[in-house]
Amino acid sequence: MKRVLAFIGSPRSLGNCELMVKEISRHIVEPHELRLLRLSDFDIRPCRGCYACLFGDKGCVLKDEFSLVLDEILAADAYLVASPTYFLGPASVMKRLTDRWLALYPHVEKLWGRPGVAVSIAGIEGNEGYSQVGLESFLKLLLADIKASRVVYGALPGEVFSGPGNRAVAAELAASLFAERREDDSPSCPVCGGRTFRFLGAGKVRCMLCSSSGTVAADGDELLFHMRTGEHAMFVSLEAAVEHRSWLRGMKEKFLAERTQLKQITGGYVEGGTWVKPGGDSHG
Ligand SMILES: Cc1cc2nc3c(=O)[nH]c(=O)nc-3n(C[C@H](O)[C@H](O)[C@H](O)COP(=O)(O)O)c2cc1C
Repeated sequence: MKRVLAFIGSPRSLGNCELMVKEISRHIVEPHELRLLRLSDFDIRPCRGCYACLFGDKGCVLKDEFSLVLDEILAADAYLVASPTYFLGPASVMKRLTDRWLALYPHVEKLWGRPGVAVSIAGIEGNEGYSQVGLESFLKLLLADIKASRVVYGALPGEVFSGPGNRAVAAELAASLFAERREDDSPSCPVCGGRTFRFLGAGKVRCMLCSSSGTVAADGDELLFHMRTGEHAMFVSLEAAVEHRSWLRGMKEKFLAERTQLKQITGGYVEGGTWVKPGGDSHG
């Protein structure tokens, strides 16, 4: 029996995100247990950037509920991700969790390449902003194999299924989850399949999912992308992800070796500005 872990970005009980992941689960033919994480239920604090979680198996120094979520991640076989669009992006709980994912690096070999699908739910057609690439990034940073991602529309809780169209989307996402290959004929990054680009001028582009750069040119109705391979490869192969972990770990030694010089830089910025503190106290 497979474990399918669903990340739900909405705090609304029986909201559109919850309905969507349950509907996807109903269409998955492989026997599975659906594990549901409503991220707003968890106390997940901001990463402190100490890098301690990269080393050994002690985990994160913050004593909150992230370790519960990490245990669920480690035990999963596949992922469903559903978040409402809040102000043109995924709900902030999705990012708050992602910010803790240096803690995934000790487990790269275990986590690499698990299948996942994402669905972004927006209330107004066309108003989803960057939420789709946001959820694709969530899966990419989870070291997953993104099988498919979609945007669907529905505002009030339940509205996502007030017509038949989105049930069909759920069925498609379910079929993609354990499928061999990602089927998609829309213009996409040849390195990672991403479909969101930044235009850098003079025909140059950068893929917002894997960070590869390249060029794009029109050939009739078609867009032809030529991307540099090997740039930012930590999102493309397990070997490169493992190498990235070594680089990250090496940053600690680099910091220890260079901290005297770095302190000379930071020391020049101790003064300046007035910190606004919670509770109303201000300190210059
Ligand atoms: C704070 C907030 C911000 C929202 N911002 C957007 C938005 O920028 N674009 C949009 O299309 N819908 C927006 N919506 C609508 C939600 O994406 C939509 O209602 C969605 O179905 C909520 O999912 P849920 O039922 O699972 O909570 C917003 C809703 C809320 C509560």
